[in-house]
Amino acid sequence: MSQERWDAVDDYIVEQLLDDDPGLAATLAASAAAGLPAIALTPAQAKLLHLLARIHGASSILEIGTLGGYSSIWLARALPDGGRLITLELDPRYAQVAAANIEQAGLAGVVEIRVGRALDSLQALREEGAGPFDLIFIDADKQTTPEYFQLALALSRPGSVIVTDNVVRGGALADAATADAGAQGMRRFHELLARGVDGHQVSATTIQTVGSKGYDGFTLALVGV
Ligand code: SAH
Ligand code: DHB
Ligand code: MG
Repeated sequence: MSQERWDAVDDYIVEQLLDDDPGLAATLAASAAAGLPAIALTPAQAKLLHLLARIHGASSILEIGTLGGYSSIWLARALPDGGRLITLELDPRYAQVAAANIEQAGLAGVVEIRVGRALDSLQALREEGAGPFDLIFIDADKQTTPEYFQLALALSRPGSVIVTDNVVRGGALADAATADAGAQGMRRFHELLARGVDGHQVSATTIQTVGSKGYDGFTLALVGV
């Protein structure tokens, strides 16, 4: 099986199951024009996240890793009236591109972008008494994922859902000797899930995926049930 085949199938899925969406196409075009890396979720992945948020009835969502706001827009569109999404981004230039994209999508009143190191922003959210969030999407620097997950738990409630992207890393997840710092982060993340976090019950699974972004995967975790 090859990348070519995975691309063809993702194209087919988009053609069959995803509505034409000039707004989201504009988001991706503006992100590319601004020189942002092409690492947003694929449309099929983004729709999965959107559907999970709707299935869960999420009205408060936290995202770690905004980039140009592609996944933020998909998630924010899943919110009911009065719902809110906070998204955290390190790079002020990326955040500016995202803010423009989110405004274009008519979601400026729903989405708040916080610029800075996500560890600092998460700590600030805790100190403000923010949350608990119904759904949290972790998709920032991969090596810090275990720390993000622990802080996400602190901003959760029993029943919260935490989705983490890019956990399989082309299979490096299963390689103890991997030189990929991101994959090492995802191994530490799985070790954390395996041993548990004091004071929290978490039930999780990881699903391997292929598609137009290659071979990777995501972890779905349910808190406290
Ligand atoms: N969720 C986006 C993709 C995010 S890519 C989408 O699917 O559309 C990862 C993002 O995490 C990048 O924008 C990167 O700048 C950001 N990032 C990296 N390190 C970070 C940190 N320490 N704190 C906050 N954001 C960070
Ligand atoms: C990278 C980040 C992502 O969120 C992703 O989905 C793929 C790659 C990266 O930093 O390389
Ligand atoms: Mg990702």
